[in-house]
Amino acid sequence: SDHYPYSIQGIDPIQLTKQYGSPLYVYDGATIRRKAAELQYAFAGVNMKIKFACKANTNLAILRLMREIGVELDVVSPGELEMGKIAGYDASQITFTPSGVDFEEVREAVETGAIVNVDSLPLLEWFGQTYGNSKPCMIRIKPNVAAGGHTKIMTAHADSKFGISVLLLDEILEMIKKYDIKVIGLHQHTGSDIKDAEPFLKVADILLETAKHFPDLQIIDLGGGFKVSYLPGDAITDMDLLGKKISKRFRTFCEEYGRDLQLWFEPGKFLVSESGFLFVTTNVVKEDPARNFVHVDSGLNHLIRPMMYGSYHHILNISNPKGEPKHYNVVGYICETDTFATDRELPEVRQGDVLAFLNAGAYGLTMSSNYNARFRPAEVLIDNGEAKLVRRRETMEDLLRTQTGL
Ligand code: LLP
Repeated sequence: SDHYPYSIQGIDPIQLTKQYGSPLYVYDGATIRRKAAELQYAFAGVNMKIKFACKANTNLAILRLMREIGVELDVVSPGELEMGKIAGYDASQITFTPSGVDFEEVREAVETGAIVNVDSLPLLEWFGQTYGNSKPCMIRIKPNVAAGGHTKIMTAHADSKFGISVLLLDEILEMIKKYDIKVIGLHQHTGSDIKDAEPFLKVADILLETAKHFPDLQIIDLGGGFKVSYLPGDAITDMDLLGKKISKRFRTFCEEYGRDLQLWFEPGKFLVSESGFLFVTTNVVKEDPARNFVHVDSGLNHLIRPMMYGSYHHILNISNPKGEPKHYNVVGYICETDTFATDRELPEVRQGDVLAFLNAGAYGLTMSSNYNARFRPAEVLIDNGEAKLVRRRETMEDLLRTQTGL
């Protein structure tokens, strides 16, 4: 509606920043439910499972919401695995997709009952030596396909560190045979912010082609990476089209080769990006001869995407939506050049105005830090018309907790 996001499920975010302090992360549970349903609907014709890539957002309330709506979990560390379990997941619902980790972490995950995506030949050999055929695993394939919104978030091209190159298939098969390894799934993740269906179809074909060599396979996991709309009106992944095309290939393959496969996806952004807002307050407006600067009470310590990837995050001045349009550099309070937006047109910004950063639900708080000895913000989840504090703001005590010699 017109009022969105000035009101989230009828709740005024400016009021929330007064109650819980600014800056504040706020998530709309209804959006998460809608996005999950969209994905489930698009792949209704196949046996599909969603594993939320929880590096995007590890708030326990969000993980619990995911569990409630039938979304399982993809984790990358023992810490994320533990959070999944605290949120009520059974380890069997969790996949561990590490990247070059200490094999002891893999042991921990396997022993707890999670399924591991093996991402190197040495790890595959260790897995075979350690477990033989007594534990199942999946293999992360690097398909050598370059796609993604930024070089830093492409993960499947030949030069990428992730996975075992599909060109090493003979070596993979040899290792499996040698140790009688029980491979139940093939995995790949192409990258983030992928709009077109074409790269997804390409990697699906590569994995299905590879699957012919694995007669006992149960799972094809195509990873995440669906593009969301950071810029309003920006084209996003057409999920219905993608669903139709991939489902068709998938079903044809299963029929042709007499297989009964599950199709898995691991989206992060698609499920939570749009649901999240970072609300910040304007500390000072500096009218410099070169630029107008809006300095807000946040910075790269809370939302690093603009500085790290040059990502666009749409900004609204929700305190003065009808103000006269002006151009600003929106910057943080960190002693670095932490520019959120350059030469951005906003309704006139005044000291004390609350600004909303959109699409802050994925890789926002999870990528935050305590740089400059600043506190991480609180988080609020609005679900079923009710706002709940789901993480308190940090305090000085939190900053000092790990220091010795106080
Ligand atoms: N699966 C694997 C193995 C991944 O590495 C990732 C993301 C995902 C799934 C989820 O991708 P998504 O659907 O969220 O695009 N911090 C960057 C994104 C890097 C994601 C790393 N891996 C950003 O803020 O753009």
